[in-house]
Amino acid sequence: MTKQIYILNGPNLNLLGQREPGIYGSDTLASIEEKCRNRALGLGIKIEFRQSNHEGVLVDWIHEAGAAKAGVVLNPGAYGHTSIALHDAIKGVGPLPLVEVHLSNIHAREAFRHKSMIAPAAVGMICGFGPLGYELAIEALAARL
Ligand code: DQA
Repeated sequence: MTKQIYILNGPNLNLLGQREPGIYGSDTLASIEEKCRNRALGLGIKIEFRQSNHEGVLVDWIHEAGAAKAGVVLNPGAYGHTSIALHDAIKGVGPLPLVEVHLSNIHAREAFRHKSMIAPAAVGMICGFGPLGYELAIEALAARL
């Protein structure tokens, strides 16, 4: 069976490219998707790349990924710091191999970004490496699926 990874992006990540470029860089979400597709192609992995500004939609997609026995790369955006619902969804469909990704180094920013609700339910977390973090997460999951 072909290995599959859902790459899920939370709120405001549709604004990448124009959003605080000093923090998030100049890549758009479309250019990050292209990098992910190229990396996944080389590994023989099928990817689903999605973005939503709505917490419940992200919950539904985590359920879908769990049912599909896929891996997940999740950039939860700000929901990563607040969402017990996303934490519970990951645990609920578990074991779900999920890697949390943030473009910026959340630990070098405001105190309210230091806490992650996702990390305790994830196999690992990558932050601070920009779009490369997504590719590293794909590599990490490819080795586990
Ligand atoms: C982010 C970091 C979050 O703190 C922030 O709310 C985002 C983007 C990142 O990719 O660096 O929306 O997840």
